[in-house]
Amino acid sequence: MSTYPHRRLQQASSPAGFAWQPGMKLSILLFAFLCFTHTCIGQWNDSSLNIIPAPKSIQKTNGTFTISSATSIFYAEKEDQATAVLCRDYIKQLTGLNLPVKQGAVKSNAIVFSSKGLQPTNAIDSEAYRMEIKPASVVVTGKNAGLFYGFQTLIQLIRKASATSLQIPCTVIDDAPRFRYRGLHLDVALHMFPVWFVKRYIDLMATYKLNTFHWHLTEDQGWRIEIKKYPELTKSGAWRAQTLIGSAQLNPMGYDSIPHGGFYTQEEVKDMVKYAADRHITVLPEIELPGHCISALVAYPYLGCGDNPGPYKMIESWGIYEDVFCAGKETTFKFLEDVLTEVMELFPSGYIHIGGDEVPKTRWKTCKYCQQRIKDQLLKDEHELQNYFVSRIEKFVNSKGRSIIGWDEILEGGLAPNATVMSWRGEAGGLAAAKMNHDVIMAPNDYIYFDHYQGKPSQEPLGFPGLNSLARVYSYDPQSPTLTPEQQKYIIGTEACLWTEYVSTTAKAEYMLLPRLLAFSEIAWSARDRKNFNDFQELRLPVHLAAIDSLGLVYRVPTAIGANDDQTFQYKGEPFRVELRSPVKGAKIFYNFDDIDPRETDYEYTGPIIIRVPNGEKRILRTIVITPSGKRSNVTRTVFLNSKPSALK
Ligand code: ACM
Ligand code: ZN
Repeated sequence: MSTYPHRRLQQASSPAGFAWQPGMKLSILLFAFLCFTHTCIGQWNDSSLNIIPAPKSIQKTNGTFTISSATSIFYAEKEDQATAVLCRDYIKQLTGLNLPVKQGAVKSNAIVFSSKGLQPTNAIDSEAYRMEIKPASVVVTGKNAGLFYGFQTLIQLIRKASATSLQIPCTVIDDAPRFRYRGLHLDVALHMFPVWFVKRYIDLMATYKLNTFHWHLTEDQGWRIEIKKYPELTKSGAWRAQTLIGSAQLNPMGYDSIPHGGFYTQEEVKDMVKYAADRHITVLPEIELPGHCISALVAYPYLGCGDNPGPYKMIESWGIYEDVFCAGKETTFKFLEDVLTEVMELFPSGYIHIGGDEVPKTRWKTCKYCQQRIKDQLLKDEHELQNYFVSRIEKFVNSKGRSIIGWDEILEGGLAPNATVMSWRGEAGGLAAAKMNHDVIMAPNDYIYFDHYQGKPSQEPLGFPGLNSLARVYSYDPQSPTLTPEQQKYIIGTEACLWTEYVSTTAKAEYMLLPRLLAFSEIAWSARDRKNFNDFQELRLPVHLAAIDSLGLVYRVPTAIGANDDQTFQYKGEPFRVELRSPVKGAKIFYNFDDIDPRETDYEYTGPIIIRVPNGEKRILRTIVITPSGKRSNVTRTVFLNSKPSALK
């Protein structure tokens, strides 16, 4: 069970100098296209070739394929052309070489993209690819998304050999995802995020082979999608006068006095859906019901319980609020059906997320319309009324050929017949649903909610209580061994969530996302037996973080690998030996024994630190990592004693 069952109740706490700027279109499709230009010259890590997420199988062979001005790019079928063009653009960006893209008979010195050869029989196969790199050619085989993912892997392998040539190690890779649903959520309601940032988010997803962008669009604190039939939703429901600073419990300072809000127009939504589709990502819209909807009640008070409900006020803090949609009035369902109709016209996704979490029953208990509904429908109580509500919406959504996903609270009072459950309060709801033969997406908050801390709160930006460190995220396995193999098949995937109570800037959103996104990609994509945290953290991640650093993205710089923060070691007759590794390729580690935070004026780590501690004394080692772009890790502190701890307080 989750340690934090009520996420929103629990608490309360410059864009980087990167080339992408608000409003700017990326000339090249993906973030990854730029990744490996500056920092990654040098040896490939032979066992894994630095690929994240780890592929199903890698066979390294001898030699390299060299891309030069004599190389051509071929595609087999018309449908493969788009990926071939992406490859050309990428290489042009890296080297200035403008390679020809051709269809037809393949000669040597060619990169080939082909959908011929792999015949998908299921969803997983349709995302699979095979890549054979030989000295004379690179052949990537896959259909649609599979071919695209093969290309993503290819660009992780490319290294600059000289100003005008690139090298790729000879290899055979067979790859396919472990899960067909690989989601990343972004809450744009608690804080609004601009279109350019959402696109960057989608680019990062594509780089790491995620395929579903869950867009949390409505909340008590803001309605973020234009609905033509109900313009008041975004006139009054998209704005609040001020925002709670941090946490109601932790921060007594109150509100920031800054009006906050915004919404996406339908044109912007259509553009986003296409942008994502071009990267083989489905956008899953979430319209919260029957709770977390006060922004809609502000706009249209008649949707609330009782006679003459309202007026309502926009919510400016965090928590669970008692005002919800009235389940007794037909006008509520008319409104929601109209809204969902416009939503389904905008989003071609097979699923629509209807929320369903954290719905207090207080208003329903005293509302004559809700009580009448309970009587008319022979329901036992308000929990069954919630099931009535969700099932009725499901029926409508199903009638349009779509399916619903709801948070695990939709299990209470009975599960809508065809619903997929997104399990966030730990795994319990997901396990129960799988046992009832319902599809499940695992998103347990105590592993893969990215609003939780990544490190010691005293050195981190304000976050939600609880530590979801990189190692903890990486350790998560969505297919619980408590399920039978048959039941495990209902776990169709997993999703990491970024709620934004305390995330009010794009820089902080990036910080909370990176590098945990990379660990999550391996949970979602890589086969269980291909996961290896040491290999991930020590060999592959440093290369990716160097690329992320060079792009100017904001990210959490991990502390030095091997630094034992907050630990005390006792002398055992030999000098202490501390061996450190940089978590970001090209970053430097600095240390001191002064018991104050180290900086670039201190000792630079160049090899094992030998620490001699005379009898009866102690030494305190502090370390910091500083990256090429100047970003700094948290400071670690380790105590080395040559005495009993009690003698040295
Ligand atoms: C949730 O975090 N309330 C789904
Ligand atoms: Zn009511």
